[in-house]
Amino acid sequence: MAFLDIDELVIRFHRDGGVSRAVNGVSLSLEKGQSLGIVGESGSGKSVTVKAIMRLLPKHAKYEGGEIRLEDRSLLDLTEGAIRHLRGRKMAMIFQDPHAYLNATKTIGAQMIEPLLFHRLASKAEARMRAVELLRQVGIPSPERRVAQYPFEFSGGMLQRVMIAMALMGQPDLLIADEPTTALDVTVQAQILDLLGDLKRERDMSLILVTHDLVVAAKTCDTIVVMYGGRVIERLPSKSLLHSSQHPYTRGLIACTPRVKGPQTLPTPIGGSPLNLRAPLPDGCLFADRCPHCFARCRVEQPQLQRVGERHEVACFLTEQQTGGVSA
Ligand SMILES: Nc1ncnc2c1ncn2[C@@H]1O[C@H](COP(=O)(O)OP(=O)(O)O)[C@@H](O)[C@H]1O
Ligand SMILES: [Mg+2]
Repeated sequence: MAFLDIDELVIRFHRDGGVSRAVNGVSLSLEKGQSLGIVGESGSGKSVTVKAIMRLLPKHAKYEGGEIRLEDRSLLDLTEGAIRHLRGRKMAMIFQDPHAYLNATKTIGAQMIEPLLFHRLASKAEARMRAVELLRQVGIPSPERRVAQYPFEFSGGMLQRVMIAMALMGQPDLLIADEPTTALDVTVQAQILDLLGDLKRERDMSLILVTHDLVVAAKTCDTIVVMYGGRVIERLPSKSLLHSSQHPYTRGLIACTPRVKGPQTLPTPIGGSPLNLRAPLPDGCLFADRCPHCFARCRVEQPQLQRVGERHEVACFLTEQQTGGVSA
């Protein structure tokens, strides 16, 4: 059994008499010490999926099917108390906007040591030492001085480093980063991603990186899953992503990524608009309306992930026809 296993997860938001079908049968897994990149356009269910692992979804989100297992625990069955016990220590998450998660009126140090003191995991002096040491490890100069400063005294990149240090305070086995560098400029972005990769290796942590940037995902992660309409439509080793992906949606995402094509060619956006999650789901492939290769079967039957190569699975009838569909 994998370290983390998500099986046919279904999540719907019920509000104002309407339903939003955010996650529609996501299956993925992650081994200890490995990194997984989750990519896909905005609205494809990436954040909802990873927040579900942390059980951080709002009350109007309903888990309507499937399972999430972390080692031997079924996370969706745990009480709020039990999940709070795991958050921070077993798994931790960092978000795109550190300001939304930090208290502007408390020092960085106070916020870093609070959970440790609350769970009585360390004395105040020990916790403070650990905070300073972690700030140093994530590359913050003069951590002894910086630990006593407030969030506004840090740049965006430095604050994201603080968030990473904060997430590491409880020594989690799984670190989830949801678009952690989207708000940062390219140089700082690269530094933060390198840092995440280094920390993962040094600590033998598992890492999930959510990003809409395929180049970033391919560089930072071991395995990639591509999501569309709240489903995984392709899963492959990161080294295969840019040149050997097979799903028309993944190929479309690559065609609209500027750094993959030559500098002279303009990126081509995928035609049509993302799936309307408020309408009932189509019977067939969720991508059919936008797919340049759509044929009759795609309208009536939902393609399942099929193995097409070493650690490579694709949910597309086109690939299945070509390869004869080796069952996964
Ligand atoms: N808090 C929420 N309330 C209602 N619907 C939501 C909420 N969060 C997400 N959704 C729905 O789930 C879909 C997927 O969202 P999300 O996982 O955030 O996408 P992304 O892939 O961009 O991270 C959204 O398009 C929206 O319809
Ligand atoms: Mg998101």
